[in-house]
Amino acid sequence: MDWPRGVDGLCYGGDYNPEQWPEEVWDDDVALMREAGVNLVTVGVFSWACLEPKEGEFDFGWLDRVMDKLGEGGVKVDLATPTASPPPWFTLAHPDALNTRPDGTVQVHGSRDTYDVHAPAYQRASLRIASELAERYAEHPALAMWHVHNEYGSTSHSAHAERAFRGWLQAKYGSLDNLNRAWWGAFWSQRYSDWDQILAPRATQYLSNPAHALDFKRFTSDALLGHYIAQRDLLRQANPEIPITTNFVFGQWAPVDPWKWAAEVDLIAFDSYPSSPDETAERQSAMHADLSRSWAGGRPWLLMEQAAASIHSPDGAIAKSPGRMARHSMIHIGRGSKGAMFFQWRSGRGGSEQWHSALVPHAGKNTRMFREVVDFGKALPGLAQGAEEPIETDVAILWSPDSWWATGDHASLPARVDYLENVAQIHRVLRDRGVVADFVRPEGDLSNYRTVIAPSTYVLSRAAAENLRWFTAGGGRLVASYLTGAVDEHCQIWLDGYLGGLTDMFGIRVTEHLPQPAGETRALWNFGAAERFCELVELRGAQCVTQYATGQVIENQPAVTVNPFGEGEAWYVSCKLVDEAWDRLFESLELTGPGLPGVDVVDRGPWRYVVNHTDAEARIGDLVVPAGGWSVVKRSS
Ligand code: GLA
Repeated sequence: MDWPRGVDGLCYGGDYNPEQWPEEVWDDDVALMREAGVNLVTVGVFSWACLEPKEGEFDFGWLDRVMDKLGEGGVKVDLATPTASPPPWFTLAHPDALNTRPDGTVQVHGSRDTYDVHAPAYQRASLRIASELAERYAEHPALAMWHVHNEYGSTSHSAHAERAFRGWLQAKYGSLDNLNRAWWGAFWSQRYSDWDQILAPRATQYLSNPAHALDFKRFTSDALLGHYIAQRDLLRQANPEIPITTNFVFGQWAPVDPWKWAAEVDLIAFDSYPSSPDETAERQSAMHADLSRSWAGGRPWLLMEQAAASIHSPDGAIAKSPGRMARHSMIHIGRGSKGAMFFQWRSGRGGSEQWHSALVPHAGKNTRMFREVVDFGKALPGLAQGAEEPIETDVAILWSPDSWWATGDHASLPARVDYLENVAQIHRVLRDRGVVADFVRPEGDLSNYRTVIAPSTYVLSRAAAENLRWFTAGGGRLVASYLTGAVDEHCQIWLDGYLGGLTDMFGIRVTEHLPQPAGETRALWNFGAAERFCELVELRGAQCVTQYATGQVIENQPAVTVNPFGEGEAWYVSCKLVDEAWDRLFESLELTGPGLPGVDVVDRGPWRYVVNHTDAEARIGDLVVPAGGWSVVKRSS
């Protein structure tokens, strides 16, 4: 029950919004879907106002016809609950259920995601529309999967949020004394003497409390998860055979801890929107795919959305060159997605996303885009064989939502820290060396890995520190970089050398943080260079691998160290290395794989997936993959 019912092999399709189009178009849609080999579409994501035009009055006629038509056409439905976009009647009737920003601004309807997940009226209305859908469609033969909500991510700072937050804090801390201690309440007179004094971290005069802010992120993730679970449970009851999921997305605005959520979904679904048109897009896609597979515990997952024809960059949409849509899809498929889905099936005629690309462009089927869609759809059924084969790797990168959230607020840090860039850097250097890495949470199971890399894992809980100690003592090779273990789970400093208290394991103490000016580098002896951040390290038994060649205070001081510990070894990189220096370190650790820069190579059982993003032919062993091409072959040995 972890795969869309009735879909054989790989999924191919996208978000389908028939409610935006006259019914004459629907027959054309189904015919084109058949031509393209589409076998799954997501319906109803934003159709609450069409399904419930007035409170408690439902119109399912159009959806009945859509479901029947798709079913007869052999296209299965991933049916969404529409709770990401409440209709105008709802917000007018329940103004207290609107999203409130930190500055107190209440976001009115007119876009989407204008809800407060903590508002009882919104919770009731969500469950009502979800249960109406469950009752009507749970047994529909076209129903393959439930898609709860869309990209959970709205954070509200309302009075409802504050009430719920206090309850969450009471359950977590038990007493105000505990909370005041954890939040370091003596600072700036922030001691609370009554639970009701605690607010959401709203706009305030100057810096807010980092422990308070981090707990609010964790609370918001849990509250959104509660909203998902409530819908999931009633959908499950209506038909236990249908898998249920929601689509994850990757953005600083999405306060969701996917490690925690993963246990509650039947299938990990991910929306991948790279943000840069150069080769960063391929790097980001590969990282999205490895994260998704890791959240899925190595099981198949599904790329639920991607843009067909363009990349959303800060400069606006940039067209994907011919073949790039297929290559991006193949990055995900090679790294464990059992299919390629898109936002969206047909480009909209109106509305704020009317210029968003789609499988069927505004100009219709006689287009280059649609021909590419049909060609790729023809190739997909041949790729099903390797889809269940696991991807084996003994290298993992720590992914810590706490560290991401805690470093998003630059004000409470020793210097600007771009946590995502630090993680992405490790992933891209390994990928360029042909290594496929898993991600793992700091408290997660590390027993399958020989090497674990902790890039600037700023927040290190006691449990995570013990986990790393256990891993290293048991024979693992840990490579941690600057600021790892600077603070604990309450954002309190790990005193006497930082490092999550693991100074004995690393055989060093970090005694000073030395942020460096942007644009300047600090050379390391025979090791490339560091930029932006260096630390002063005192050796306490560790061996110095290389020293800083330049820089005030740090000159001739240890930059990279290694310490044997138990059966394993703990490496420490006390600065932000440039890519070439990481490459050199990984070379010395013999971390290499079959891929090349710009060429993804993933081995899965007997299958080898190769995607060549370069404009030159790629030779991987005996296999030659043309420029811009991809290939899935059985390995000779
Ligand atoms: C998200 C949403 C879609 C759509 C796309 C646009 O992923 O889920 O509804 O807005 O972004 O890229």
